[in-house]
Amino acid sequence: MRKILVTSALPYANGSIHLGHLVEYIQTDIWVRAQRFSNNSVHYICADDTHGTPIMLRAEMEKISADELVKKVHEEHSNDFADFNIKFDNFYTTNSQENKELSEHIYLTLKKQNKIEKKEIEQFYDEEKSMFLPDRFIKGACPKCKASDQYGDSCEICGSTYTPTDLVSPYSVVSGSAPIKKKTEHYFFKLSECSDFLETWTQSGTLQSEASNKLKEWFKTGLSDWDISRDSPYFGFEIPDAPGKFFYVWLDAPIGYMASFKNYSVRNKLNFDDFWAKSSDAELIHFIGKDILYFHALFWPATLKYSNFRLPTKIYAHGFLTVNGEKMSKSRGTFITARSYLDTIKNPDFLRYYFFSKLNESMEDIDLNLEDFESKVNSDLVGKFINIASRTSGFVGKYFDYNLMDSNNFVSKESKGYIKNIVDLKDEVSALYEDRQYSKLARLIMSQVELINEFVNLKEPWVLAKQENQHNENSELHEVCSTALQAFRLISIYLCPVFPRLGENIQTFFNDSFESFEQVSSSALKINKYEHLLKRIEKKDIEAMVNLNLD
Ligand code: MSP
Ligand code: ZN
Repeated sequence: MRKILVTSALPYANGSIHLGHLVEYIQTDIWVRAQRFSNNSVHYICADDTHGTPIMLRAEMEKISADELVKKVHEEHSNDFADFNIKFDNFYTTNSQENKELSEHIYLTLKKQNKIEKKEIEQFYDEEKSMFLPDRFIKGACPKCKASDQYGDSCEICGSTYTPTDLVSPYSVVSGSAPIKKKTEHYFFKLSECSDFLETWTQSGTLQSEASNKLKEWFKTGLSDWDISRDSPYFGFEIPDAPGKFFYVWLDAPIGYMASFKNYSVRNKLNFDDFWAKSSDAELIHFIGKDILYFHALFWPATLKYSNFRLPTKIYAHGFLTVNGEKMSKSRGTFITARSYLDTIKNPDFLRYYFFSKLNESMEDIDLNLEDFESKVNSDLVGKFINIASRTSGFVGKYFDYNLMDSNNFVSKESKGYIKNIVDLKDEVSALYEDRQYSKLARLIMSQVELINEFVNLKEPWVLAKQENQHNENSELHEVCSTALQAFRLISIYLCPVFPRLGENIQTFFNDSFESFEQVSSSALKINKYEHLLKRIEKKDIEAMVNLNLD
């Protein structure tokens, strides 16, 4: 049995969960559930990422304290995740005592290892607000094309990139005043000294090959030291030996993985060191989006290594979500929040299945085409998959008192063959989950669903049922319907990690509880009365969802 600690990236506490985020949390949650169906021991950890300037300013705008904002958002995020059946073992916060202690400990260890350096730098400063401005909070005209209101890093009009100092007539987004340049002392993690280690580590199979190739480019330009401090006012942890200086949010955020685990391990009597010490034999797997690869593949392993902790076993990066082929947009109503989906479409399994049918192990972007979403989910799940049960279970209730034939007692070669084929897929199914080849797995399983439907079409149980001699327990009618329903059960076991809510209904239908792929080697002996297992998605609900998100 493998011991696996899995994380999803920590969502920022300054906004709502949207469908883009859900690509990640659904991908990870399916993976975690599938590992449990393969009988591995998994701990799935997450937290809100609470520190930094945007959160401080948003709290100010809402006229509440940052602590209150963080608490409010934590509750909102927790409900969103729970309603999508994303089942973290711990959903904590980076604004915790555990995280403060671990961050301080790690910083002090890095310092002892001579990996921290103080340097004086010059930064933009807002005199009106008495604060230093992060790059994103300075705007101005593009130095190339002179377009106004461009951010300090790149121009959205002509695409050129530059530094905030290049902007023409820069202004502070916070107060509107013209920023001045001011000197300040910052703390740097000497990343340039970690180049050899990181270059080897990033090519060692921990990353997808696409990701290691991308990193090769970064090494070509060389690694710069990493600025890990920010000046007050800042919402975060104060640096132990540096009053008025705070840890940059990206220092304590990944440490939040450890802190969330620490909090969980104490409550669940697990040993923290079994998972985080250098000698740990547990796997540590991070699921992230491609935009935060730099932090997870360079800063994070360097931080861990030089503070004497274990390193990640795998980093799995996914691509970005587009809606109808374009970047999510508020003006098109495609910047869709998790809550607005739940309020209109209601069933989380539709989105979970749709992402499942599109995701793979690469960093390619994935598209949610709303028309395709409706037709694919209705056709695959309702039209094909559920159809197997809805078209056969009535006969089993009516003529056979809800009893099913055990697959081992099937007489026809055909019926035995169908079941054997599906049972034999077990190792392939669990390997495809493991490798995150979800779309391939969806196709594999749907092809089985189609075969079973063709079998039912061919055997026409509704015709058989009209014949008196078909109403005893050894009849062809009973065997045909049992074949379909036993196959339906096996496929449901395979897909349970994808759609937990539908899975619950199916378990009730079979009076069974699905926990392991091993269960495909057994048969069901009885069903319950068939109740509607799943309702179709309605076009009007999708329209209502888009309308809710129109700016
Ligand atoms: N707080 C950081 C992560 C810190 S981890 C130590 C962060 N937060 S985020 O809220 O912006 O994003 C959380 C995760 O969701 C990230 O992995 C990010 O890549 C992912 N996604 C956010 N928007 C996304 C899409 N539109 N599409 C796919 N994934 C997206 O980054
Ligand atoms: Zn420009």
